[in-house]
Amino acid sequence: MSSGDFETYFNRRATRFAAFYSSEPVARALGRGPLFDRLRLAVDITVTLGASRVLDVGCGSGPLFAPLAAQGIHVTGIDPAEAMVVKAREEAASFPGLVEVELRGWQQVTEVDVYDVAIALGVFDYVGEPATLLAQMGRAAANVIASFPSPGIRLNLRKIRYGARGVQVHGYVLDRFARLAADSGLEVAAVLPLGRAGHVVHFRRSALTR
Ligand SMILES: C[S@@+](CC[C@H](N)C(=O)[O-])C[C@H]1O[C@@H](n2cnc3c(N)ncnc32)[C@H](O)[C@@H]1O
Repeated sequence: MSSGDFETYFNRRATRFAAFYSSEPVARALGRGPLFDRLRLAVDITVTLGASRVLDVGCGSGPLFAPLAAQGIHVTGIDPAEAMVVKAREEAASFPGLVEVELRGWQQVTEVDVYDVAIALGVFDYVGEPATLLAQMGRAAANVIASFPSPGIRLNLRKIRYGARGVQVHGYVLDRFARLAADSGLEVAAVLPLGRAGHVVHFRRSALTR
């Protein structure tokens, strides 16, 4: 897959994807409850860590902005899809001085230790080089929080749907996180299940790289 397919897919579907967040009960009825669960888990871990600066990689329409800004946490959201950035900037406007949004992809993350936590929700699903992304996030922040879909029937259906539009979707088994962390100079701090949908994983710099 070229990352261009991933970027253009969400550029064209920004409105539809953002709408998943408009009603939690409706999202849950449609089987999309894990979207809300992963937000809450990411916010809980970030607050527990006492973070003050967060990098939100693939921020989409910015569903993390409000809960993080409500805790006084500064957020930099990045996304390469222009239509998503438009929505994210609308959301960011409610939190002046606390949330900023930049049009760029994870490949353009060059910051080192600028943030306390780097978060990527719903991004590793579509990335063919997960260790490269994880390592880049681990340089930007000592703590990384990310969601990973599990293999299974639901993921296979997504593979068919997205595959028809040139976007590959990747599943991650539980056993893979430790290896992925080690390949990225990180270690696994916690693995939190999202039901059958997947996991939210908290990585931190390993003792060797701290
Ligand atoms: C499934 S959406 C998730 C959005 C948001 N994190 C959320 O939880 O609602 C995936 C997002 O990744 C973005 N994306 C695509 N290519 C990317 C890249 N190279 N770097 C960072 N984000 C990317 C898409 O534009 C899209 O907004």
